[in-house]
Amino acid sequence: MQSFPAVDPIPLPAPIWLLKLLHIVTLALHFVAVEMLLGGLLLAVLLSLFRGSPASMVTARALARRLTVVMTFVINLAVPPLLFSQVLYGRALYTSSVLMGVYWISIILILMLVYRLLYRFSRQLELGRKAWPAGLSAWLLAGFIARLLSTNMTLMLRPEVWRQMYSASAMGAYLPTGDPTLTPRWLLMLAGGLFIGGLWLVYLAGRSTFTAEEKIFVAGFGGKVAALFGLDYQAAGVWAASVQPEIVKAGLAGDGVYSFYKFWGLAGYGWIALVVLAVLTAAVAGFGKLSSGVLGFFSWAGVLLAVLIEIMFTVYRDGVRDLTLLSKGYDVWDRAVATNWGVVGLFLVLFVGGLGVVGWLISVVARARKVMEGAA
Ligand code: HEM
Repeated sequence: MQSFPAVDPIPLPAPIWLLKLLHIVTLALHFVAVEMLLGGLLLAVLLSLFRGSPASMVTARALARRLTVVMTFVINLAVPPLLFSQVLYGRALYTSSVLMGVYWISIILILMLVYRLLYRFSRQLELGRKAWPAGLSAWLLAGFIARLLSTNMTLMLRPEVWRQMYSASAMGAYLPTGDPTLTPRWLLMLAGGLFIGGLWLVYLAGRSTFTAEEKIFVAGFGGKVAALFGLDYQAAGVWAASVQPEIVKAGLAGDGVYSFYKFWGLAGYGWIALVVLAVLTAAVAGFGKLSSGVLGFFSWAGVLLAVLIEIMFTVYRDGVRDLTLLSKGYDVWDRAVATNWGVVGLFLVLFVGGLGVVGWLISVVARARKVMEGAA
């Protein structure tokens, strides 16, 4: 029996490859921000809990101050991929979202709570008060949001269970746990948080707002965390890939009608190679006691690697979704397209203009008067 709802008769307004490209680029940026939030927050909580040295408190405050800004990027960079995935996979994604609707809609409320707690965490740190309970609560809630997203992204791939679930209850209160790919996928994102969080610290160590002594601490701590959790992230990635159905693995190797999915599979190898490179970069920054100039190079190398790693990850993940859905009768490439080039052109101009404005904003922040991180 056909499980997917009927296709929308209105054709897509842009080529599928373009929608997928924009989806992957914007989703990879969402993932960079999500990992900074999940990892940076946990590291700041741990630093503030153990209060090892004055430099560790300065580092916790430096992270906490930035997390509220990172949160704006998490949200703003989430909206475009949400729209693109609804256009491309709406029949699957809307169905799973309805089945877990109560939890899905609750993300908005949890998100507001996380935001509030992030401000509280940062404020308490600035005042020198006990801050970790607020920070830890924010991290647990953010981790729960991640779990809800992983749940929906895997439930949308299981049309075989939808009908029976909906027949049993139309309340929209399901939170399924039975998919063997769900937990590896979620843990992969959590491990990635500490890895990217460590690289973020290596980047921060290159900034002139830290004293020489603080820089040594930030680079040493961040580099070691990134090197250690990079290996963890690698292991979680291999685990998440290994639990995918055989047909999906074969598709990623280039078998089947759409043999071009081997490029999606190659992105998996690209991801492994880049994570190894990032681990080495982080290890040098973490153990090497580098001079300021050399550290500057490593801090930017870490940023570049983090973005490339998330792009590779997103491409591979995209292949897993397309091939899983294809094996169940949903072909993302099989849609009527009536490209409206005027609208596409206008969109691209506004998109590039928007990126230009963000670049300008970043340059204004970069030129602003520098305040030392340790200043009260
Ligand atoms: C604290 C906030 C957030 C966290 C921790 C978070 C985390 C995540 C994670 C872990 C995934 C990957 C799930 C998987 O594939 O297993 C994901 C994907 C996604 N997130 Fe977020 N997210 C957050 C906020 C948001 C918000 C506010 C939105 C919507 C406006 C959003 C939209 C999406 C979408 C659409 C995807 C998947 C897109 C796709 O696969 O096509 N996220 N997020």
